[in-house]
Amino acid sequence: MQILVWDLPTRLFHWLFAFSFAVAWITGDSDTYRDLHVFVGYLMLGLLGFRVLWGLIGSRYARFASFRFGPMQAIRYVQDALMRRAPHHIGHNPAGSWAVYLLLTLGLLVGVTGILVLGGEEQHGMAAGITLFGGGEALKELHEGLASFMLGVVIVHLLGVAAESWLHRENLAKAMFTGRKHGAPSEAIPSAHYLAGGVLLLLTAAFGAWFFRDDFTATPQRPHIPFVGQTLPDNKVWRAECGSCHLAYHPTLLPARSWVRLMKEQDTHFGESLGLDAATTAEILAFLQKNSADTELTEPAYKIKQSIPPNMTPVRITETSYWIKKHQEIADSVWRHPKIGSKANCSACHLDAEKGTFEDAAMHLPDGVAGLSKARK
Ligand code: HEC
Ligand code: HEC
Repeated sequence: MQILVWDLPTRLFHWLFAFSFAVAWITGDSDTYRDLHVFVGYLMLGLLGFRVLWGLIGSRYARFASFRFGPMQAIRYVQDALMRRAPHHIGHNPAGSWAVYLLLTLGLLVGVTGILVLGGEEQHGMAAGITLFGGGEALKELHEGLASFMLGVVIVHLLGVAAESWLHRENLAKAMFTGRKHGAPSEAIPSAHYLAGGVLLLLTAAFGAWFFRDDFTATPQRPHIPFVGQTLPDNKVWRAECGSCHLAYHPTLLPARSWVRLMKEQDTHFGESLGLDAATTAEILAFLQKNSADTELTEPAYKIKQSIPPNMTPVRITETSYWIKKHQEIADSVWRHPKIGSKANCSACHLDAEKGTFEDAAMHLPDGVAGLSKARK
């Protein structure tokens, strides 16, 4: 007969965890959905914490104690299953138990490396400032490798569920929805723990509402930028003098030697003469040098610096190979669009250009401008 085996919190955990993993996998490569990716990443970690707790205090089949099988038992179970003589388990069978252990462990590792990548590559989140940009790239490989391995375990798990369902003529996926499997009445759990399940659901919803709170109040005039970057150094004199004709290009966008050259050649500044006095020139130059791309304060700074050969001193950001690479998919017609007009008009497309952070999430083509040939990566 059908008896209750999986309590509600266990089922909710299972499907929320699976959902988070799927969303994280799909959004992994996209800058546009980076906030969603980070959200499901944190959600996975939170769910893991809950599952560990529930494995200690939950109902009978949710407890780790009820599925403590060694690796040999798991292998023997698979062998038996292949010979179609594996015994029916009410709770997790030995092979399924190992899927649980592996997925919990991998989920933790993927989540933690994710936080480190976010801190290293983007200087965001809890690990911002802990890892440097260079280290962030190695961590990213690890994060992606672990996630791929996890996908492999998920696939094996699904195959196992299909095989087991066929072997014992019992739809295990459905059982994870209804909580019911066939067994003797004495083996049933007494309660579905609706209260704990409700609390888990409520916490998840509250976390989502909090995480995306600014999206609810955004307007086209005041769009929400997820991941506002760190606050970069500023200087009044620099902003006033270098921001009067165009955007005040943040010092992090060129190496120090470029700024030295620009200030030295200020009388022939792209057809203009800046005519700054010695004191003003000195103050601005000091600010530019102190916070140049060489300091690697931001991801673009790090990459711009890397992309300029040491024997070159560009005076245009728009002529560095990093900038060119990042903007090569933009059609010529876009640059000529009245709302843009010039490649140097960064703030037309980057909502945070004034701040100098150039976050992926703050990239926003003006309304009515189309022309990105390929999907943005
Ligand atoms: C009198 C107006 C004026 C002032 C003041 C001015 N600039 Fe410029 N700047 C220009 C013009 C014009 C261009 C070329 C813009 C274009 O190509 O669309 C330019 C371009 C630049 C570029 C290259 C942008 C690119 O294409 O990558 C940099 C860097 C730059 N200016 C730095 C500065 C700095 C630093 C200061 C302050 C010391 C400054 N500018 C002040 C007029 C000015
Ligand atoms: C026509 C709109 C447009 C203009 C103008 C523009 N950009 Fe961009 N920028 C983009 C697009 C589109 C991307 C690609 C975003 C992506 O890869 O997700 C991009 C990417 C970047 C990136 C890489 C961000 C990252 O982390 O991947 C940087 C840095 C950047 N732009 C700086 C600038 C600077 C500096 C200027 C001005 C000198 C400028 N952009 C002008 C549209 C523009």
